[in-house]
Amino acid sequence: MAWVHMDSAALGDSVLDLYERDGVYMIRVDGWELMNGEYHESEDRLGELAAQLARRPDPDILVGGLGLGFTLASLHRHLGAAGRVTVAELSEAVIRWFDRHTKPRTLGDHPFRIRQGDVLAVAAEGSAEGPAFDVILLDVDNGPEPLSAAGNAALYGADGLGTLRQALKADGILMVWSAFEDPEFVGRARSAGFSPASLPVFRPGRAEPFHLVYVLSASPFRPGELDRFGLQPL
Ligand SMILES: C[S@@+](CC[C@H](N)C(=O)[O-])C[C@H]1O[C@@H](n2cnc3c(N)ncnc32)[C@H](O)[C@@H]1O
Repeated sequence: MAWVHMDSAALGDSVLDLYERDGVYMIRVDGWELMNGEYHESEDRLGELAAQLARRPDPDILVGGLGLGFTLASLHRHLGAAGRVTVAELSEAVIRWFDRHTKPRTLGDHPFRIRQGDVLAVAAEGSAEGPAFDVILLDVDNGPEPLSAAGNAALYGADGLGTLRQALKADGILMVWSAFEDPEFVGRARSAGFSPASLPVFRPGRAEPFHLVYVLSASPFRPGELDRFGLQPL
């Protein structure tokens, strides 16, 4: 069965499209697949890892962006009733599609807050009254390069990384989903004061890593932490 086109929406100079096939959704940006509900292992793993890596039992977590909501649903599965989750989503249409169509059934009735806007602005706002977040989790592009919005270059540069670090508590963690390795981004993260590590994400039955998650700690990793989570220091 072919994907059925359901809706289009502008996002800055780009166009987002929502497709559906057999109850599974896909979002494309300018024709490129941004999120496909057929494969969400790494989005699930991202949420699980964020819940596990948080260094407080009742963490404040900022997620950017919403997409099809798999990371959000996974976070809640692994946080249980603990913590507070805020999702920043740039596109009003993605939020509308989530409310009408795409919200994963596994999300249940866990409470969360969706803010429409740039995750960098939401992070900066949170930090005006002091460091706000235990974990900030970025899955807005295909890696630390702008894809879904040209303005996202700001997120991965020295200033953006500095803003994100200020929005984190002293032992907070920034996580960045990526489809590729980016040593220059790692260098900028180190210059911004982060201790960098990465986690390869495997697809069931495959020997080669599928994606990776950059795990950038605002404080040095604690003894045993890297091994416990299978993180590779960079
Ligand atoms: C790859 S999808 C996220 C997938 C999501 N983790 C999931 O589980 O479905 C990227 C999302 O980030 C949003 N986005 C892009 N740039 C953003 C930004 N600067 N701030 C907030 N959301 C952004 C896009 O509109 C899109 O909904």
